[in-house]
Amino acid sequence: LKIAAFEVRKDEIKDFKKAAEKYNVELIFTGKPLSVETFDFAEGCGAVTSLGHSRIDRVILNLMRDAGIRFYCTRTVGYNHINLEYARELGIRICNVSYPPNGVAEYTVMLMLMSLRKYKQAMFRGNVNDYSLEGLEGRELRNMTVGVVGTGRIGRTVIEILQGFGCRILAYDAYPNGSVADMAKYVELDTLYDESDVITLHTPLLESTYHMINRESIAKMKDGVVLINCARGSLMDVSDVIDGIEKQKFGALGLDVIEHEDGIYHVNHTVDIISNRDMAYIRQFPHVTMTQHMAFYTEEAVRSMVYGAVKNLRDLNKTGSSAFELF
Ligand code: COI
Repeated sequence: LKIAAFEVRKDEIKDFKKAAEKYNVELIFTGKPLSVETFDFAEGCGAVTSLGHSRIDRVILNLMRDAGIRFYCTRTVGYNHINLEYARELGIRICNVSYPPNGVAEYTVMLMLMSLRKYKQAMFRGNVNDYSLEGLEGRELRNMTVGVVGTGRIGRTVIEILQGFGCRILAYDAYPNGSVADMAKYVELDTLYDESDVITLHTPLLESTYHMINRESIAKMKDGVVLINCARGSLMDVSDVIDGIEKQKFGALGLDVIEHEDGIYHVNHTVDIISNRDMAYIRQFPHVTMTQHMAFYTEEAVRSMVYGAVKNLRDLNKTGSSAFELF
């Protein structure tokens, strides 16, 4: 099997080479996303892998079919960038990967603590030798009610980590998980919005969760709520979130993702003009901590993503099935 790997970062190359050897596949790689312009790179390959900034839409899927590419694996857990239905229609087999949830879960708790302790402002002040305390009084997590929306592997691990902080934990999931019920109280989403001091999102981006954080849901939240999003930007309607910020609804926001981040995050744009106005506007607020979709980014996760993608594509080719196939 020959695999074309797109969106390959330098830190993935070593693992890609080892994985190709281990699973006995031929591999070519490029740093560019998979797009109509870069598609030629995959010529002669039977399988393709990319990260989430490549749109696997009808156009790309048609190109894959015409080029005889039968397998695609996203090196991500999320797969909202893939038109799965159309892939199925064309008979192109699609996989995702799994990696330890700990990296994202730890990062989530870090953003909670940074938000509660106003660390962004403290850090900025330190850079100009301003060591004042005024305005930096924080709140203690042990006295908070934390609402976890989505109790899959990441949400569940957040709840596990939070056990040590002594906070009250509420959870919501369309499919509650018995093992979580021992550590958190499952409630209706409206109750979670109403009672939580900190809300963190760990749900996939689906039609049903798109813009779940909007004017109506924000209105149901406590004044001063801390909102954390390490999942997908489009879970939140960014203009409704901005309205909320302007109306001083939020105590803080910790956002590792933001709507329309594609093509911006994970790239050095120091000398470019970035045309995401919402991102520029929201970044300035003292209580909004934004990072470049990096919660996943640990050595452990990167290794799992690369090895997982190569193995899944090899399995599809060799055995006709993979445990990570998406339909
Ligand atoms: C995912 O695995 O779904 C992620 O969000 C990480 C990706 C940006 C590399």
